[in-house]
Amino acid sequence: FSIHVQQKTARNMKVLVVGQGGREHALLWKLKQSPSVDEVFCAPGNAGTAVDGVNVDIADNDIQGLVKFAVKEEIGLVVVGPEVPLCAGIVDAFEKAGVKAFGPSKAAAQLEASKIFSKQVMRRANVPTASMEIFSRAEEAIGWLDKQEESPWVVKADGLAAGKGAIVCANRDEAIAAVKLILTQRAFGAAGDQLIIEECLVGQEASILAIIDGSTIIPLETSQDHKRAYDNDEGPNTGGMGAYCPAPLVTPELMDEILEKVLLPTVHAMNTADMPFRGILYAGIMFTETGPKVLEYNVRFGDPECQPVLMRLKSDLAQILLAAAEHRLEEVEPLEWDPRPSICVVMASEGYPASYEKGRPIAGLDAAAEAEDVKVFHAGTKLINGKVVNNGGRVLGVTALGDDLAAAKSKAYEAANKIKWEGGWFRNDISNKASK
Ligand code: AMP
Ligand code: GLY
Repeated sequence: FSIHVQQKTARNMKVLVVGQGGREHALLWKLKQSPSVDEVFCAPGNAGTAVDGVNVDIADNDIQGLVKFAVKEEIGLVVVGPEVPLCAGIVDAFEKAGVKAFGPSKAAAQLEASKIFSKQVMRRANVPTASMEIFSRAEEAIGWLDKQEESPWVVKADGLAAGKGAIVCANRDEAIAAVKLILTQRAFGAAGDQLIIEECLVGQEASILAIIDGSTIIPLETSQDHKRAYDNDEGPNTGGMGAYCPAPLVTPELMDEILEKVLLPTVHAMNTADMPFRGILYAGIMFTETGPKVLEYNVRFGDPECQPVLMRLKSDLAQILLAAAEHRLEEVEPLEWDPRPSICVVMASEGYPASYEKGRPIAGLDAAAEAEDVKVFHAGTKLINGKVVNNGGRVLGVTALGDDLAAAKSKAYEAANKIKWEGGWFRNDISNKASK
């Protein structure tokens, strides 16, 4: 008889996550669960990534510094979280140095870096989206608005504006003010050299993310963000105050329609333009009366959407992202998901999204971490003399799985209620839209 010894999976890959938010903590936490991953680094990271991995004191936009570190440490895979280094060409720089990196090239990242580029790709690919006009001079934009019938508009700076570049305007006067803010007062600097004026769409929104290597598309489970600061979608826009996964509004039929009318033609158009898209394509979709329409493309995981989505992923994330970086995504087995829904409640600093004070000690993290199926992802946190303090606007993402969404919600809020710091707050209605 013969004896078969199963080969132990090699544990030999070092992974570097670039960024310092909740998304990056979730990526690092999930990548570390991979049997093929030995060590996970985060540059620059936060107090949470310092516990689950090793922080490296290099800023996420110091491309040369990060490449040098990755070469020296023989990093097997780099995963880049934020849009700024991606749009600056960090993946091209890693590839040039022979380091495998997951994310789009600088050319492909224009889908997020330039709203005009993105809309032109959509137009070419016949992707359903709001109609739009491009302007670089305020007088022309205002002259055009004056000729249109009174209606709501969305005015968007062309370039990256930290999520603040889209201004929803109730009428012509507000649209004119937004045009002046961008083109005359230069509120977003060079990101506002040009702008677009879009028709205002109405409907619910969801985030559709897919892993892409130029020839294979693997859609992830759907999610829904909560961009406004306060309950019932009131108050100013934020980076996102919470998310849940899946978003029941995206039925399998709608998902098929989005694959066929949005993702496939966009990937094809990018190939035709000789800028193959690799990385995460994030389509912000509005479900209008006339069907799903793209609001914007991002070229990275959403934050906080990444947290509840990865909480449900059972497959080996490191092997999937490595396969994408090596252009062999077709070899990846269908993704396995925890059937239970998940939710992430963001805890924020007093004053956010306006200015806030940093350095306030956070209590109750250990108590919150004890709950089953709960993970507290750190975002704007820092360790000072062994104590975790707030160090950003969005501070923590309390994420939970539950047998149904109501159970996930109560688990997340129960954990969030154990965490306290001066002025710390959260929205109370994350995921309520799922049952409307
Ligand atoms: P964006 O930066 O393009 O994702 O826009 C940010 C937010 O503005 C979106 O999540 C929507 O809530 C809103 N928005 C953007 N474009 C439109 C549009 N054409 N019609 C209505 N709302 C929009
Ligand atoms: N949560 C929205 C974003 O990541 O852009």
